[in-house]
Amino acid sequence: MATLDLQLGGSQTVPEDADDGVWLTCIECGETFAPFDDVRYTCDDCDGLLEVRYADSPTFDDFEGRGVWRYNAALPFEEGVTLPEGDTPLHRVPDLEEDIGVRNLRIKHEGMNPTGSFKDRGMTVGVRVAQAVGVDRLACASTGNTSAALSAYGARANLETLVLLPSGKVAAGKVAQASLHGARILEVDGNFDACLDIVQDLASRGEAYLLNSLNPFRLEGQKTIGFEILERFYEDEGRFPDRIVLPVGNAGNTAALYKAFRELVQSGALAPGDVPKLTGVQAEGAAPMVEAIENDLEDTKRWDDVETRATAIRIGNPVNAPKALPGIRNTGGTAVAVSDERITEAQRDLAEQGIGVEPASAASVAGLRKLRLSGEIDPGEDVVCLTTGHLLKDPEAAAEAGADPEPVPNDTDKVLKHLQGKRVSLGGDGLLGKVLGYVR
Ligand code: F0G
Repeated sequence: MATLDLQLGGSQTVPEDADDGVWLTCIECGETFAPFDDVRYTCDDCDGLLEVRYADSPTFDDFEGRGVWRYNAALPFEEGVTLPEGDTPLHRVPDLEEDIGVRNLRIKHEGMNPTGSFKDRGMTVGVRVAQAVGVDRLACASTGNTSAALSAYGARANLETLVLLPSGKVAAGKVAQASLHGARILEVDGNFDACLDIVQDLASRGEAYLLNSLNPFRLEGQKTIGFEILERFYEDEGRFPDRIVLPVGNAGNTAALYKAFRELVQSGALAPGDVPKLTGVQAEGAAPMVEAIENDLEDTKRWDDVETRATAIRIGNPVNAPKALPGIRNTGGTAVAVSDERITEAQRDLAEQGIGVEPASAASVAGLRKLRLSGEIDPGEDVVCLTTGHLLKDPEAAAEAGADPEPVPNDTDKVLKHLQGKRVSLGGDGLLGKVLGYVR
C-alpha cells in the first residue's frame, strides 16, 4: 500500500494575521488569512478552498464536557450558539452486524441532534463565527437539512435567515422546520447546485453570510463527529474503528472527518495506522464523487441531471471534493454508489433495529452491504455507519417504505377478527423479511 499522506498541508508556522492561534489557509496555494477580519469563503489569490488552522493540534486529553463544545480545544471559540448539539448515540446493532457480516457494526445516529441532522454541529460553530465577523443576514442553499439547522440557529442568535431550496425536491419535515423557525424560504426552479450558485453570488455581493459547507468554519463543528466516534468506540472496544461509512452529497462531512483525523495525527494522539478508512456512499443518480474515485480523477465532473429518492444527497457538483477526495484516498477508503431500492431496504433494516433514519442516511448501510457482498470490505472489520438525518425529516419516504395502516371497523370483536387474518411478507430479502401487508 502507498504511504498515506495524513499531513495537514501548508506551513504550520503561526502567521502574523492569526487571531489567538487561529487562521485560514488555502488548501491549493498555502496563502494564509486572518480568520474573522473580513468575510471570505475561498482564497483571494487562487479561489481554492480554505481550511481553519490552529497553533495547537488537539489530543484526547484536551477534551472535556459534553456535546460539540467538549471539543473546543479543536474549535475557534470556547463556546457558541447552542441548543445543545452532538453527543449522539453510537448504537450497537448485533442482528444487522451478523446479517451484513462484519466483526463489529455501529450506527452513529446523527439524526438525534436538536434539529434532526448532523448540520447542527456545523451551525453551532458557524453562527458563532457569523457573530464574530459581525453580519446581520445568514444564508444557505440546501437540500433541506442545512436550511432547517440554519433557521433554528439563526433564530437562536436573533439573526435574519435566508434559505434557497430546490423547488419540489425538499422533504416536508425540513421545509416545515425552516418555515416555523422564521427563515425566508426562496424556492428556486433548479436543483441544489443551482441554489448554491445563486447564494454564492449573493454572498460575494455582500448580501448575506454564507453558511454552506464551503464556509470552512461549518466543517470545524462537523469534525466533532469524528472525535466522538473515536472516543466512544475506543471506550467500548479498546481500539479505533477500521472504517467509517457515510453518505456523501456536497462532501463536507467527508472533508470534516478527514480533518479531525489529521489533527489528531498531527498532535500524535492518533497513529497514522489507526485512522479509519473513509468510505463515501452516493445514490446512483447523483454520484460524481464515486465517478471521480473509480476513474482516479483529480476533481469531480459536474452532473447536471441528478435524481434520487434520497433528496438530501441529490447533488451533482460537490463543492468540497478537493478536500474530500484526498480524505477518501489518503485513508485507504473508497466510494460506492447504491440504487434507491437498496437505500429503502437499508432504511427498513435500520428501522427493524429501532433506528429511524431518512433515506440519505440509510445509504451508508446500503453501501456497506454492497461492499461486503463484493468482498471490498473484509468480514474482520470494525465499521461505523453514519446515519445523518432523522426518519421524521421525510415522512413521505418513511410511509412509502413502511407498512400501510389497516382500516378496521369501530368494534372490538371485528378488530380481533381482523387481527386473526394472516400476515404476509412481500419483501423478503431484508433481515427478517418485510411485513408490508395483511391478508384479510
Ligand atoms: N445526509 C443528509 C441527511 C444530508 O442532509 C446531507 C447533506 C448529507 C448526508 C451529505 O452531506 O453534503 O456533507 O456530503 N445535506 C445538505 C443540505 C446538502 O443542504 O442539507 P455532505
